[in-house]
Amino acid sequence: MATTSPPQVVLVTGGTGLVGNALRSVVAADPSKEHATWIFLGRKDCDLIDAVATKALFERYKPTHVIHLAAHVGGLFANLTSNLEFYEDNMRINDSVLAACVAHRVKLVSCLSTCIFPDKSAYPIDETMVHNGPPHASNEGYSYAKRMLEVHSRLCRTAFGLDFVTVVPTNVYGPYDQFNLSQSHVVPGLIHKCYLAKLHSTPLIVGGTGKPLRQFMCVARVLAHSHTSHLLLHHAASRTTSRG
Ligand SMILES: NC(=O)c1ccc[n+]([C@@H]2O[C@H](COP(=O)([O-])OP(=O)(O)OC[C@H]3O[C@@H](n4cnc5c(N)ncnc54)[C@H](OP(=O)(O)O)[C@@H]3O)[C@@H](O)[C@H]2O)c1
Repeated sequence: MATTSPPQVVLVTGGTGLVGNALRSVVAADPSKEHATWIFLGRKDCDLIDAVATKALFERYKPTHVIHLAAHVGGLFANLTSNLEFYEDNMRINDSVLAACVAHRVKLVSCLSTCIFPDKSAYPIDETMVHNGPPHASNEGYSYAKRMLEVHSRLCRTAFGLDFVTVVPTNVYGPYDQFNLSQSHVVPGLIHKCYLAKLHSTPLIVGGTGKPLRQFMCVARVLAHSHTSHLLLHHAASRTTSRG
C-alpha cells in the first residue's frame, strides 16, 4: 500500500530580509520544494516580540518546520548606540519563537552569526568556540542574545528530544540588504558611500584602521553551496551546530 508523507508547512521568520528573500528565490526556482508549503513572514505579519501574537501565528499556520531568521539586526553604529535594545528585542523574539516551536514540536533551524564569537579568539574559529569568552563590547547585546538562542535550542533538544539546530553564517551581503549608512553592515555601507562619492564627486572616506581582516559572502553563494544552505533548505534533523 502506498504511503503518503504528511504535508510540510515551512514557516520562515525574517522572510522579508536579506537572507529570507534569497531563500525565497531559491525555493521559487526549485520544483523539488513544491511538496512543502513555504510561508515567508515579516514584522507586519506578526511582531515576534509579542509572545501571544506569535502563539496565534503558529496556531494559524500550524508549521511542521521553522526557519528562524527574524532578528533585530544592524551594523556597528546601530549596535554601539542601542546594545540594550538589540539584547532585549532578540531575547524576546527568540523566546516567543522557541516557545511556539516547542508547543508545535516543529523541526527548527535558527540563525546565529560569526560576529557573536569571542573578541579574543584563536583562529580559525569553529562552532565549539562560541561561548569561550566575551564578545566584542560594540555588539554584546546582539551577541549574548544570539548565544542564548544556541543555548536555548540545545536545552530544548535535550529536554524534549526536538530537532532544533542552529547555523552560524559568516557576514553576508546582497539584494535586499540594509543600505542606510547609520544602520548598515560593512559591505552595503561601503557600496552606499561609493555611490555617494561618485554622485557628488567627493572623496570616498572609509572608517577604521584598514587592518582588520573580515570574511564576507554573497547571500546567493551562502544558499547555493554551504552546509548552512543544506540545513536551511533541507531542514536536516542533524543534532549538531554547524558553521556556514
Ligand atoms: N546579514 C548578515 O551579514 C548576517 C550574517 C550572519 C547571520 N545573520 C542572521 O541571519 C538572519 C537574517 O539576517 P538578515 O541579514 O536577513 O536581516 P535583515 O535583512 O535585517 O532582516 C531581518 C528580518 O527580521 C524581521 N524582523 C525583525 N524584527 C522582527 C520582529 N520584531 N518581528 C518579526 N520579524 C522581525 C524583519 O522583518 P521586516 O522586514 O518586516 O522588518 C526581516 O524580515 C538573522 O538572524 C541574522 O542574525 C545575518
